[in-house]
Amino acid sequence: MTQHWDPESYAAHARFVSDLGAPVVDLLDPQPGERILDLGCGDGALTERLRNAGCLVVGVDSSPEQVWAALQRGLDARIVDACELPFDAEFDAVFSNAVLHWVRDADASIDAVWRALRPGGRFVAECGGAGCVASVRECFAEALAARGVDSAAVDPWYFPTADEYRARLERRGFRVDSIERFPRPTPLPGDVVHWLEVFAQPFITAAPELERPALLDEMRERLAPRLQRPDGTWVVDYVRLRFAAARP
Ligand code: BEZ
Repeated sequence: MTQHWDPESYAAHARFVSDLGAPVVDLLDPQPGERILDLGCGDGALTERLRNAGCLVVGVDSSPEQVWAALQRGLDARIVDACELPFDAEFDAVFSNAVLHWVRDADASIDAVWRALRPGGRFVAECGGAGCVASVRECFAEALAARGVDSAAVDPWYFPTADEYRARLERRGFRVDSIERFPRPTPLPGDVVHWLEVFAQPFITAAPELERPALLDEMRERLAPRLQRPDGTWVVDYVRLRFAAARP
C-alpha cells in the first residue's frame, strides 16, 4: 500500500481528525496515573491530550514522519506496526482514533491489543465503519476502471459493521461494553482534492504518474454533486464505528 503521512499537510488538511476525537477520549475516561497506549498516535495531538489528563502515555504509529512530529511534542512515541505491538500486559487501556480502518489484518491487531493490556484493561477506539466514504470509493472505482485499474485491488480501507467487529473482539475474549456505528458527515477545511491527496494515496498512485492530475480533476467533478454544498463547502460522508471493550 502506498500511503505516506506528511505532518505538514496533515496539520493543514486533516487536523479535524484529532479535533473530532473528543467523544472517544470521553468514552475512554482517562484517569490520572493510568498507563495508556495510543495506537496510531499520528502527530500526537490526542496523545498530548491524554498526557495532559495525567496519564502515562506511549504513542505508537507506523509512520516515521508522524512519530517524529509526536516526539517534537515531547511525547514517548515509537515506530511500531499495529499488528506487532511489543507489549505484554503493560497497559490499563489501549486507545485508538481514526486508525483501525487502515489495518487490513484486524484479528492480528486485536490480538496484539489483547496482549498489551493487563487483565481488566480496556480497549476504546473509533474508526471508520461500514459505508464510510462510500462516495469516494464509488467514484474511484469508476474513474480507475476507465484507466484499466481495479480499485478494489488497491483499496487500503477496512470499514466493518458493528456486528462484524464485535464478533472479532468477542472471538478474542474481549467483553464488548458498547459498540455503535453512525454517520458523521464531516465538513472539510478546504478542497476535497487536498483530502484525497492526504487520505487516498493508494488509489491515486494506482494511476500512471502523468495521469494523476487528470484523475484528481475527474474525481473532483464526480464528487461535487454528492459532497459539495451550494456554499462551496465539501462535506465527506464519514461513518464511524466507536466501541469500548475490556479484557476480563
Ligand atoms: C479517517 O482518518 O478517519 C479516514 C481516513 C480515510 C477514509 C475515511 C476515514
